Amino acid sequence: MTSLTAILGGTGLTHPEHFEIEHQKGCETPFGKPSADLLYGTLFGQSVVFLARHGNPHVIPPHQINYRANLWALKEAGVQRVLAIAAVGGITPAMGPSVIAIPDQLIDYTYGRAHTYFDVDLDHVTHIDFTEPYTASMRQSLIVAAERAGVAVVAGGVYGCTQGPRLETPAEILKMERDGCDLVGMTGMPEASLARELELDYAVCAVVANWGAGKQQGAITMADIEANLKQGMADLGRLLQHWLPEA
Ligand code: HPA
Repeated sequence: MTSLTAILGGTGLTHPEHFEIEHQKGCETPFGKPSADLLYGTLFGQSVVFLARHGNPHVIPPHQINYRANLWALKEAGVQRVLAIAAVGGITPAMGPSVIAIPDQLIDYTYGRAHTYFDVDLDHVTHIDFTEPYTASMRQSLIVAAERAGVAVVAGGVYGCTQGPRLETPAEILKMERDGCDLVGMTGMPEASLARELELDYAVCAVVANWGAGKQQGAITMADIEANLKQGMADLGRLLQHWLPEA
């Protein structure tokens, strides 16, 4: 039996193409409301729950997303695995605009976000293992599906999560590069660790929207970001078409 999949859509993916919505449901969790109603439906013949991370319309900035409510609502909906779609900036040479990467590591630069479920009513302190922050089997199935779909992906990489909502300075991007980051985004944490706390499988398809600050000539424009995301999201759709029925 295949497990129920959630897609957490990011910038450029408020609603996936070909997704047939059957019903939608607002919910309340012990941590408040998720970013939007959960959309239940089918995508490429498979049952999927879709949640727009930034809300629908896209109005919630990365530092104000209620990550705890989002993951909790998906768990309550009976989801076993979460595929996170995230727009990112590219730092290292393989991570150019429109590339899709399936990162295997992360570094968290965020602060002040409600980042754990383990801070109320504790019987004992729990430290989740985070040696592999993304579920290895899920990453592998995405990489295989991409090969079958003929979609080039970068099978690995370190995702650095910044606080936002501003983009970084070139000095910050160079520091992140020295730290070992390949990609920079604003929503990857605490999403990944909260998923692990709830024992949900979790992996990311990171779609590169732009070169990180200072890695390209001139300023980063929203027009460039949107054009690159459009191409990346089209490739991502073909990847999902293979992944959902097979994984
Ligand atoms: N930095 C952080 N987050 C991002 C970027 C970036 O350059 N592009 C898309 N999301």
